[in-house]
Amino acid sequence: MERALTCWTDLTGHVSIVTGGNAGIGLGLARGLVGAGASVAIWGTNSARNAAAVEALTALGAAGDAAAFTVDVSDQDAVEDGVVRTLERFGHLSSCFANAGISGRPDRIERLSEDDWRNTLAVNLDGVFFTLRAVSRQLRSQDTGGSLVVTSSLGAIDGMARFTPYSASKGAALSLVRSLAVELGGDGIRVNAVLPGFTDTAMTDEHFGADETRRRISSRIPLRRWATPEDFEAIAVFLAGPGSAYLTAQTIVIDGGYSVF
Ligand code: NAI
Repeated sequence: MERALTCWTDLTGHVSIVTGGNAGIGLGLARGLVGAGASVAIWGTNSARNAAAVEALTALGAAGDAAAFTVDVSDQDAVEDGVVRTLERFGHLSSCFANAGISGRPDRIERLSEDDWRNTLAVNLDGVFFTLRAVSRQLRSQDTGGSLVVTSSLGAIDGMARFTPYSASKGAALSLVRSLAVELGGDGIRVNAVLPGFTDTAMTDEHFGADETRRRISSRIPLRRWATPEDFEAIAVFLAGPGSAYLTAQTIVIDGGYSVF
C-alpha cells in the first residue's frame, strides 16, 4: 500500500536532548530542531550560558520549545538525572544529540599528562557513552524507536598533530556509533555520527583563530569558508526526524569539501 506523504521537516511532538547545546555547533543543532517544531532540552555545565541559549531559542519565535538543564556529561549520575529532569519537563524522548566536547590541551604526546588524556576522554568518550546509555534505556522502555546522533570530528579520520587525546576520543566515538547502530537497529533506534569540518566556535577560535591560520585553512576548503553553527540546523532536523528513517550507522561529513581537497 502507498504510504501517505509526510513532511520530513515537521518535528511537532518530537523531544530532543542536545548536550553542549548552549553554544557553537550544539546551539546550531538546537536552532534547527526548535525551528522544526521540536521541544529541545539543552544540557550544559554553564547555567548562565544555558539560560542565554534558551532565551535565544525562544526569541526565534519558532513552533518548538526549549529548556536547559545543568548537566556535566562526564558525570554518569548527572546524566541519569538529566534524563529524569528532561522527562519531567517534556514527557518522552525522541532523539538525542551527544554533542558536548572539549579539545583538551594540545601538545606533543611526550608532554601530555595522564590528566590531559583522561580529562579529554572523560567528556568526549565517557560523556557520549553515559548519554547514549541513559537515552537508549529510555527509548527502549518507550518502545518508540528514536534517533541518536554523535558529534564526532574530522579528527577521527584525519591525522591531527598535538590533539591525540581529542582525535582518539572522536575515533572511538565513531566505533561506538557503528556498534550501537547494529545493537539498537531492531528496536527502531538509529545511530549516526556527524563529522564537522572547521566551524567558527569558541573551540576553534582558541586554537585556530589567528588570521593567518584561518586564511590558510580557508584556502583548502572548496567552499572557501568555515562552517557556522547555522550550517548544522538542517542536518539536525534530517537526522532527528522521519527523513532519515532508513539511515543508520553512517558518518556524515559536513566540511565544505575540506577532506577531499
Ligand atoms: P564549543 O566550545 O562552542 O561548544 C562545546 C559545548 O560543549 C559547550 O556548550 C560546552 O559548554 C559543552 N561542554 C563542554 N564540556 C561539557 C561537559 N562536561 N558536559 C556538558 N557540556 C559540556 O565547541 P563546538 O565547536 O561547538 O563543539 C561542539 C562539538 O563539535 C564538540 O564535540 C567538538 O569536538 C565538535 N567539533 C567541532 C569542530 C569545530 O570546528 N568547531 C570540528 C569538529 C568537531
